[in-house]
Amino acid sequence: MLKPLTPVHLHWAGDVPRVLEYDDIYFSAEDPRGEVQTVFIEANDLPARFREARRFTVGETGFGTGLNFFLTLDAWRRHAPAGAFLSYLSAEAHPLAPADLQRALLAQGIPPGDVGHLLDQYPPPVSGLHRIHFPQDHVVLTLAYGDAAPGFANVRGTVDAWFLDGFAPSRNPALWNIAVFRQLARLSRDGTTLGTFTAAGQVRRDLAAAGFELQRRPGFRGKRERLVGRFRTATSSAGKPPEHIAVVGAGIAGLSTALALRERGAQVTVLDPLGVAARTSGNPAALLSPHLSAGDTVRNALALAGMRVTRALLRASGAEGPNGILRADGIEHRGITPHARRRLQRLAAADPSAAGALYEVWNADPDCPVLRYPHGVGLDLGAFCRQLAQGQDIRRRQVITVAGGETRTLLGYADGGQEFFDAAVIATGAGPALCARQPRPLRVGGQLTRVQPPLRTMGRMALTGRGYCLPEHEGQHWLGATYRREDDDSGVHDDDNNRNLRQLNWVDPALAMTTDIRVSGAWYGTRAIFRDRFPAVGELGPEAVADEPGATRAAGIPRVFVSLGYGSRGLLYAPLAAQLLADRMFSLPEVVPMSLGERLSPLRLLQKDDRREPPV
Ligand SMILES: Cc1cc2nc3c(=O)[nH]c(=O)nc-3n(C[C@H](O)[C@H](O)[C@H](O)COP(=O)(O)OP(=O)(O)OC[C@H]3O[C@@H](n4cnc5c(N)ncnc54)[C@H](O)[C@@H]3O)c2cc1C
Ligand SMILES: C[S@@+](CC[C@H](N)C(=O)[O-])C[C@H]1O[C@@H](n2cnc3c(N)ncnc32)[C@H](O)[C@@H]1O
Repeated sequence: MLKPLTPVHLHWAGDVPRVLEYDDIYFSAEDPRGEVQTVFIEANDLPARFREARRFTVGETGFGTGLNFFLTLDAWRRHAPAGAFLSYLSAEAHPLAPADLQRALLAQGIPPGDVGHLLDQYPPPVSGLHRIHFPQDHVVLTLAYGDAAPGFANVRGTVDAWFLDGFAPSRNPALWNIAVFRQLARLSRDGTTLGTFTAAGQVRRDLAAAGFELQRRPGFRGKRERLVGRFRTATSSAGKPPEHIAVVGAGIAGLSTALALRERGAQVTVLDPLGVAARTSGNPAALLSPHLSAGDTVRNALALAGMRVTRALLRASGAEGPNGILRADGIEHRGITPHARRRLQRLAAADPSAAGALYEVWNADPDCPVLRYPHGVGLDLGAFCRQLAQGQDIRRRQVITVAGGETRTLLGYADGGQEFFDAAVIATGAGPALCARQPRPLRVGGQLTRVQPPLRTMGRMALTGRGYCLPEHEGQHWLGATYRREDDDSGVHDDDNNRNLRQLNWVDPALAMTTDIRVSGAWYGTRAIFRDRFPAVGELGPEAVADEPGATRAAGIPRVFVSLGYGSRGLLYAPLAAQLLADRMFSLPEVVPMSLGERLSPLRLLQKDDRREPPV
């Protein structure tokens, strides 16, 4: 996870890139678009299959310039019904530099707007899964950076059609071998198809050994033969995907999950007695900042994935535009407390590119290291949630029980009513548990304080040390945040305001010197935190859900999921968790590697006592 990748070197023959390390070209010099059309798109019968699709997954070995992806996107736009969802998974060991990719794609007539959209979200060259969103088209591209065999081995999901597109097998054996093909087979279902430009004997034999039935076809434009294939297995695929899904809770966790499910074609009903962002997500001044730790590759990989997904959601919802809700663009983190200083010193001494360049070392002085997070932002979380809620089916109802039935999930309401859904997601923050053995987070209250100037002007940058300071409009600032472990829901306290003012010392002593700071407001909320400070995201096992009386549970039917425990990191992790849950429910390639998905599983918490105090 998060290993820097080895770059390759290109030589351009006109507009055709040739890679020196493999001595091969990325696409045909004569008719690249025609070749992709024949060898991959038509070989997999995509136009006809797209016309019938509600959700479809294409997998590829070798993203290269992205030409195959963009021509598939074009076919998707022309053939798929409105509202259908495409997930495109592609492995790449040596990502091209953005300028090379741009040159190759523009030369092939890919619309500049599409190329720009990819480049805006182009991942840093570190191994792992990186998602790029095309929300207007209901398309996600997941790049599996690194060697294909171990990369695909860490992907969970199902692919409908494969493009096998490496360099020539003789020059690129790492991509054309049984280890890779076994992973393709693992990610295939009965009937998954493939297309490739080669018919080399060893490729044929290894694909057949992995379970693909193959046929030879004439090569493109007089080239040698190529292959098409179909995966055959007696193992039946997962049960019917859910159609109507309940999301309980209209905070950032529930709303982003509802959006991700709707994007994948589900009917979603959000239930919350208080309406949108009435609890902790009403936070008027939240920071999106990466949660990093030198050497902790799991945490850093999650932080990188979370930053990318939340930024994409901010962009898609218009939050970043001129009328957006961003209060701060960029975050400066000062290591003022001894604990923070040690953490920042270690990060400052490490190579930022190993954490996906999420930070820049601004000042490596061991007495006061300063990091900058260029992708960090500060915003009004409540306003963001209200944007996400637009057009969603949100009902003011309090859920008191969630129970799994034989094939459906039963919600019990406080008003005595009941309703069946195909699946439910519990995203109730610090609210009480709704089903048996639901992991229970610790509740930690906290307060933000709004102050009037005169604070030294900070521009658009948020400052953070132990607390944080976020500029608001009209010269107001928000200071945060306190931690109240004895959370009694007692609302705003003067003591907490004083603590936030004192904390300015730990953000920026120069700010704290300012006299005449007047408190002009305050906000109070309750965090939900699990002991290991990771959220709980995934399905509750059957043993955790009290079954509907008399029902026998059919195996493998997804029913009750949770999205809980975001602590002080709802903006960083909740939209990522939403993608993960939505991918999981529809067996689409997941947004994070399996090992990270397992790290978040609620099952890790079931055996343990989660009411012990976490290290906040
Ligand atoms: C002082 C403070 C500062 C913070 N600063 C930051 C920050 O800088 N950056 C950051 O990312 N995060 C920050 N956070 C945390 C962030 O606000 C939370 O992580 C996030 O809002 C949690 O979202 P949620 O959707 O899980 O929960 P909530 O927003 O609490 O949403 C849960 C919803 O579920 C509903 N609900 C509960 N029970 C039921 C039921 N039985 N039936 C139906 N609905 C129900 C509730 O009404 C509520 O609307 C801060 C939190 C606090 C308190
Ligand atoms: C012929 S190019 C792919 C062209 C591409 N599909 C396009 O549309 O431009 C082959 C790609 O496979 C990548 N590759 C080679 N070996 C790999 C490996 N072991 N794992 C993942 N990708 C690999 C190369 O870096 C290169 O980008």
